[in-house]
Amino acid sequence: EKQLQIGILGFGTVGSGVLRILKHHEPKLNQMTGVSLKVKKVLVRDILKNRGTIADGIELTLDADEIVNDPEIDIIVEVMGSIDQAKKYIEKALIAGKHVVTANKDLMALHGNELVALAKENRCDLYYEASVAGGIPILRTIVDSLASDEIQKVFGIVNGTTNFILSKMTNEGKSYDQALKEAQELGFAESDPTNDVDGIDAARKMVILTRLAFGMNVEVDQIETKGIRDLQQEDIEIADKLGYKIKLIGSAIQIKNKVSVDVGPILVPINHPLASVQNENNAIFVVGAAVGETMYYGPGAGELPTANSVVSDVITVAKNIRLGTSGNVFSSYQHETKLARDTE
Ligand code: NDP
Ligand code: HSE
Repeated sequence: EKQLQIGILGFGTVGSGVLRILKHHEPKLNQMTGVSLKVKKVLVRDILKNRGTIADGIELTLDADEIVNDPEIDIIVEVMGSIDQAKKYIEKALIAGKHVVTANKDLMALHGNELVALAKENRCDLYYEASVAGGIPILRTIVDSLASDEIQKVFGIVNGTTNFILSKMTNEGKSYDQALKEAQELGFAESDPTNDVDGIDAARKMVILTRLAFGMNVEVDQIETKGIRDLQQEDIEIADKLGYKIKLIGSAIQIKNKVSVDVGPILVPINHPLASVQNENNAIFVVGAAVGETMYYGPGAGELPTANSVVSDVITVAKNIRLGTSGNVFSSYQHETKLARDTE
């Protein structure tokens, strides 16, 4: 049986989950892929940190080059976060012919097109299912299952931290600060939670969704973005009395050859399905000309749900390597579409 070696960049919330799933489902994953998957090395910042029994037998390194330059490593899993450093390591890996799986929406929103081009040039796979909506397989759904349709709208809750904060403020009367602290402790928030609470994380996810659903490139700073930082308990209570829940909603809507993309807090009527999405869960509506309205719901952040999306990408990469069909990326039909605000 062929063995594929994996190098993981990052051993935090998501990295730990990836190791757990690879370990617990080893026989099944090996049978499904037809290869044996082995984690060779994991990049960390602090080699002395206690990482529990999941780290037993795992070689840690402080030097990313030991992973990206290791000729025995076939697949790089990037779950360290950051933009510049992660980009540098992924570029090195792709140039060295390694396949890459990443959960990094910041990087894929900002530099996704360059990295996709580099992957194709080097006949490497580049997958990033975990980068949008954590455990929900939304990117595969858009690029595979809905590829035959014409998508007209993609909208919903794409940030777990803000939904968690809003749920705790609404249901348990917790303060914004208390709820944010809890989201950080549970590993849902970004290392700098500004990106979550100011809507930037959601905007970056909308960049990726817009690219894949509409074949359109929109820049993060072209998206009108508002977060939840200024919301008061009072706003939530008034909304509640009037029959609404406040939710941070990202939306990308196509009208003829224009797409409008926004992120902001919205009053959602309590009988709308988005109003009942609680805690770190996400929900995304995709409306297609043929299929009509579809909804995808599940955990939008957290160790195991996110890691499941990462490992599902690893499975795809492993199958492609075994079949000799590498060089795949999530891609969409490119056509002439403009950002609505720019053309009006
Ligand atoms: P964490 O902060 O929990 O973990 C980051 C890991 O990377 C840590 O192990 C850290 O090392 C290591 N690391 C970071 N920078 C460096 C560096 N410069 N050199 C060496 N090691 C480094 O992050 P998460 O696991 O939460 O997130 C990882 C990625 O996944 C991010 O891109 C995030 O946006 C994305 N993501 C996260 C989700 C979640 O629910 N948490 C959901 C979906 C995507 P050390 O342990 O030594 O500090
Ligand atoms: N911080 C992100 C969130 C992680 O809360 O949605 C998942 O992308």
